[in-house]
Parts: sequence; structure tokens; C-alpha cells
Amino acid sequence: MKQLRLSIIGFGTVGQGLAELLFGKEALLKQDYGLDVKLVSVANSRHGFIYRENGLDISMLLELAAARRPLTEHPGVSHWDNALEGLRATGGDVLAEATGTNLRDAEPGVSHIRTALSQGMHVVTANKGPAALYAQELFALAQAHGVQLRLESTVMAGTPVISTLREGMAGAQVQAMRGILNGTTNYILSAMAAGRDYTDVLTEAQAQGYAEADPTADVEGYDAVAKTLILAALVFGRSLRPEQVARQGITHITREQMQQAREQGKRIKLVASLRLLQEPAAGANTQTAPLEARVEPMALPENDPLARVDGVINAIAIQSDTLPEVTVIGPGAGRLQTGQGLLSDLIAIARK
Ligand SMILES: NC(=O)c1ccc[n+]([C@@H]2O[C@H](COP(=O)([O-])OP(=O)(O)OC[C@H]3O[C@@H](n4cnc5c(N)ncnc54)[C@H](OP(=O)(O)O)[C@@H]3O)[C@@H](O)[C@H]2O)c1
Repeated sequence: MKQLRLSIIGFGTVGQGLAELLFGKEALLKQDYGLDVKLVSVANSRHGFIYRENGLDISMLLELAAARRPLTEHPGVSHWDNALEGLRATGGDVLAEATGTNLRDAEPGVSHIRTALSQGMHVVTANKGPAALYAQELFALAQAHGVQLRLESTVMAGTPVISTLREGMAGAQVQAMRGILNGTTNYILSAMAAGRDYTDVLTEAQAQGYAEADPTADVEGYDAVAKTLILAALVFGRSLRPEQVARQGITHITREQMQQAREQGKRIKLVASLRLLQEPAAGANTQTAPLEARVEPMALPENDPLARVDGVINAIAIQSDTLPEVTVIGPGAGRLQTGQGLLSDLIAIARK
């Protein structure tokens, strides 16, 4: 039985989703994967970092979090006010980083990840900020310390996009990809295609928890830009800056434009795309060919696989030299759906 000592920093929707999966799947992980995951530390911003050498009681932590009671009420724990200090003092085998995304400087997540990698811990993360802004640096740091950094849940939550690209499609030269990578905007556009107004649908999406109170990151395309940057780094080995992605959101789209598209047999979708502008010679390094990166509303013909993806569901269509088009469709958000991405990364680490 392989034991992994896990630290979860960021114990909100996603951190708790991972904890719930670890609790519910404890027997499966042991039986099917020979894996015993011991959660030794957890942190949030309100209560700081708690650690217990012999492992924390996950169901108790979930109850405390649900009641918004201090995590320090867990018996027998050591406590640090600050997650970084706690992590430095205690360590572990794997850090699951699930603090909020910050696309300006990626803090506090990037400091948590740098610290963990530098002290020889593997890292799995759902946090888009560090992955979008610092992927290359962090992969180099992981390599220098002989550990893994895995990012499955940063793009389309637990739907296996990154593992499909990096492992399932290993050896294929990816030439282009197009995706619906933001559930909020797809929910809004799908409802508008059925005749609703932008403002009405946004208000409804906010009431249902599909859209943030400040929806700018979604509706102006910044969230899709972040995922485009992550894919550019992982698939094409490029460190693009956000301003190198041509970006247009969906706020200017009218009900009339949606109807007109429908009459022409088309569906308007917010499409994130990456495309090599020159086809590399067989076997040539794709990292030198010019790469176009865009996030914009596009009218797609109804027979396009992306046109039929509605609601909060996400999808990505990948073109490569050996597989003309592979389309992956699935959830792009959610507590357990995103926790699943972290869990699969954790299992992948244990397998190696
Ligand atoms: N939710 C999804 O469906 C989804 C899908 C894909 C990716 N993601 C990404 O996953 C990450 C987590 O999302 P979420 O929905 O779980 O967010 P969330 O519910 O807001 O949780 C964020 C957690 O981070 C904690 N935190 C913030 N600053 C901290 C610090 N300095 N030290 C320790 N903990 C800190 C917060 O503490 P408090 O509890 O004290 O506020 C909270 O527990 C984000 O980067 C998000 O973009 C989310």
C-alpha cells in the first residue's frame, strides 16, 4: 500500500469537493490503486493552516466547514496563521492548491505552489492563475526538484482534457484546438439562442450560482483567456501573456444577432482557439511555428460538434496530424467535478 501525505490549501468549494471524494472513495483507492491518502494539513484564509501528523478526520473537517466553524476546532492539531508558514514547517508528499484564481499576479496560489515544489512536494491544482501566468517556470521548478505538477482541473474541471492531450494523445502533433471553455457564457448564449435577453439570463445565472456577482471575468472572456494560456503552455510550450490573446466577450451580442444566426443554421458560441499558422514539417518542433490565440464569439454551423454543446457544459475539439479531430465534452465546473480532476492527478502521481 502506497501512502501519500496530502495538504489541501484552499478549503472552499473545490478543496472540500476533493476532501469529500477522498472520504467517499477511501476503500476504492485502497482496493483498486493500492493508495492510502492521508490528509495531514488543510488551510483557508479565515482560520489559517492546521496540521496533524497522524492525519485529519475528513468528515469532521467537512462538518466544520459546512457550519463555517473554525477548522482549528479539530482536536489535536498544530496551527499556523498563514498557509505558507504552515506548509514550510510541515511539508508532505503532495499539495492540492485550491485557493481563488487571481489573473493579475496569481497570488497567493503561485507562492504556495513554488514553496511546495521547492521543498520536494508534488502539486495538483485547480487554480488557473499560476497555471496561466507561470506554467513554464513552475514546470521547470518541478523538474529541478524531481516532482510533478499536474493541472487537470484548471481546464474543464475534471473532464479529462489535459490528460487526453498529454497522455492519451502522446506522440500526436497538435495543430489547432477550439473550445467552449467557459460554462457561464455558454449558459447565457444557449438561453439567448432560445429567445431570451442577455440581461435577463445573466440575472438568472447569478441567482442560480452559475455566474459571479461580478461577471466580468466570464462575460468579457478573461476566464477563457486564462484557459487558452494554460493550453498554449501545455500543448505548444509557449508562455503567452494575456494581451497576446485576441479577446472579445459576449456583452455586445443581441437577441437579434442570435436569431439571425439561427435562421442561417448557425449557433453563436464563445470560442477559445489556438492554431499554428504554419504547418510544421513532420517531426519538426512546433514550438517555433507562429501560434494564433483568440477568444471571441463565433457563429458555428449547426453540424459543428461545438455548436451542439449547450448550457454550462464545456467542450474542446483538437486537431492533430494523426487524429484529424478529437472532441471532448463534459462539465467545466462544480464541487465534485473539479475535485475529480484533482483526484485523477493525485492517482497519476501515485502511479509514477
Ligand atoms: N468552483 C469550480 O467549479 C472551479 C472549477 C475549476 C477551477 N476552479 C478553481 O479552483 C480554485 C478554487 O475554487 P473554489 O470555487 O473552491 O473557490 P472558493 O470556494 O472561493 O475557495 C477558495 C478557498 O481558498 C481559501 N483561501 C484564499 N486565500 C487563501 C490563503 N492566502 N491561504 C489559504 N487559503 C486561502 C479561501 O478561504 P476562506 O474559506 O477562508 O475564504 C477558500 O477556502 C479557484 O482557483 C478556481 O478558479 C474552480
